[in-house]
Amino acid sequence: MEVFYQRREMNQQMLILKKKGNSIGFVPTMGALHAGHISLLQYAKKQNNIAVASIFVNPTQFNNKEDLINYPRTLDADLELLRKEGCNFVLVPNEKEMYPEPDLRVFSFGNLDKVMEGKYRPGHFNGVAQIVTKLFDIVMPDRAYFGMKDFQQLAIIKKLVTDYQYPVEIVACPTVREPDGLALSSRNKRLSDDERKHATLISKTLFWAQQAASSMTISELKKAVIKTINNDPFLIVEYFEIVNEQTLQPVKTWHDRGGKVGCIAVHVGKVRLIDNIIFY
Ligand code: PAF
Repeated sequence: MEVFYQRREMNQQMLILKKKGNSIGFVPTMGALHAGHISLLQYAKKQNNIAVASIFVNPTQFNNKEDLINYPRTLDADLELLRKEGCNFVLVPNEKEMYPEPDLRVFSFGNLDKVMEGKYRPGHFNGVAQIVTKLFDIVMPDRAYFGMKDFQQLAIIKKLVTDYQYPVEIVACPTVREPDGLALSSRNKRLSDDERKHATLISKTLFWAQQAASSMTISELKKAVIKTINNDPFLIVEYFEIVNEQTLQPVKTWHDRGGKVGCIAVHVGKVRLIDNIIFY
């Protein structure tokens, strides 16, 4: 595995590979890698000749300074893991490399970022779009891999690629969970033992909601989910919304058109976790 620290060098390497007819699968990450990231890498390896990853904790997508400071950083272990899993190239730029000048670009996502994460983390998705477009310009991937845990991010990146006509296929990969159901997240590393135990209630309640959906109205189900989780002294729900899987706008009844997904954000002590469940 070759590690690049400079965007120019990475870009030149990618140009050479593409000229030779290789397909490039790309997994952008902020590091603190776990089995979820590795599953993205496995998809990238399976569907392309070359698997590329990036590790960069992108400051422009953090609307909360404390969250940025506390974001776990485990670079040596990350590189070791990527090497072991057969990643071919990894880009590990520093902030100056990615943002030599402040990025003043403002992206528009229609209504996709007016709800949920976009509402509670203002500017978050603009920062995601800034870094993802920069990374796509450097790596020029044929396919890029994103986890479904970040359901709204996935929808926004799909729109970005469509609006800006990036020749990149966005591949949505299933959420990877711990045996007890907790969705894998780099932020899980910051949970205390007690918080970790209580955090299981988030996915448990979502799975329950999936089963209960046929016997309750949307409004009843939303109330029940929020009440169950808030009853746990370690957990505070920031939002739970049942939305159309494409527009991400809240749905009123189960008869509304289109697939539906329940998206949740929960504070567990100082850690904020998100998860979601698809309703069939
Ligand atoms: O999902 C993430 O880890 C980040 O938002 C991403 C896509 C790597 C951009 O920094």
